[in-house]
Amino acid sequence: MSYHSPVLLKESVDALNIKEDGVYVDVTFGGGGHSREILSRLGEKGRLFAFDQDPDAQQNKIDDPRFVLIGENFRFISRFLRFYGVKKVNGVLADLGVSSHQFDEAERGFSTRFDADLDMRMDQKSELSGKKIINTYTEEQLSDILFLYGELRNARTLAKTIVEARAEKEIKTSFELKEVLQRFLPKAKEHKILAQIFQAIRIEVNQELEVLKEFLKQIPQLLNEDGRLSVISYHSLEDRLVKRFIRTGLFSGEPEKDFYGNTNEPMKKVGKMIVPTKEEIKENNRARSAKLRIATLK
Ligand SMILES: C[S@@+](CC[C@H](N)C(=O)[O-])C[C@H]1O[C@@H](n2cnc3c(N)ncnc32)[C@H](O)[C@@H]1O
Repeated sequence: MSYHSPVLLKESVDALNIKEDGVYVDVTFGGGGHSREILSRLGEKGRLFAFDQDPDAQQNKIDDPRFVLIGENFRFISRFLRFYGVKKVNGVLADLGVSSHQFDEAERGFSTRFDADLDMRMDQKSELSGKKIINTYTEEQLSDILFLYGELRNARTLAKTIVEARAEKEIKTSFELKEVLQRFLPKAKEHKILAQIFQAIRIEVNQELEVLKEFLKQIPQLLNEDGRLSVISYHSLEDRLVKRFIRTGLFSGEPEKDFYGNTNEPMKKVGKMIVPTKEEIKENNRARSAKLRIATLK
């Protein structure tokens, strides 16, 4: 599969505990690897709704009467399902982040490997691009993003350097950004640091953490009694939100206790976190940071 090789395919779909006539949602359709696996386990009466905000994903649409592909952001999952008359589902799968296709298409600007416009929008209708962030955000905003989303310790210095450089000349491409920051990219760590910088910009462009929170908050109302949530994440910021939400129903703090000391978490975990086998990572290096968490209603 050249568009994207699905990660933790069997494990994440097993996690949905598929009922033949159930209704399922794959909120990150991409190349459709997970969707195809779900369809192969559904009977004639089963249904699968998929979301992808990237118009490129439409080229992988599956021709099957049980399948609907919705070209929207999954932050609106309940709203769009309601449009199709669906209020409750048996399972939701999310394989977060960017597809290999998005990384490999130079002009999308996601990759540190190519010189391209600093775009990084998954949804090309969106107003916010990497270029806009790099050239218009304040030094403090840039520093916050680099620190929080890129986990870069020298975020302040990097932000200051960007602001000084853009005062001379707009920073338009990935290689221009790399050049501006060159002195902070020692050869041995160049790739790692650049990847962190690009990750930070990408998360901000696509508002990935806010979107993930909005999505997770809708899940308890959306799932049937024994419905399942199966989420694959690729960096600790996402994984932390998923883990906390499953444990407490919140993204920060601890749940309030009632008079008797009981808390009211909406979900509970199913099994332990799952990571890819050594064999899978050897076959598909992009699986190396994947973490799968599974939950059901409490
Ligand atoms: C890691 S890929 C999924 C790959 C897919 N599971 C497969 O097997 O081919 C993530 C996909 O989700 C999409 N995506 C990411 N965030 C999204 C969001 N908030 N709303 C809709 N689609 C999103 C991306 O455009 C990308 O195509």
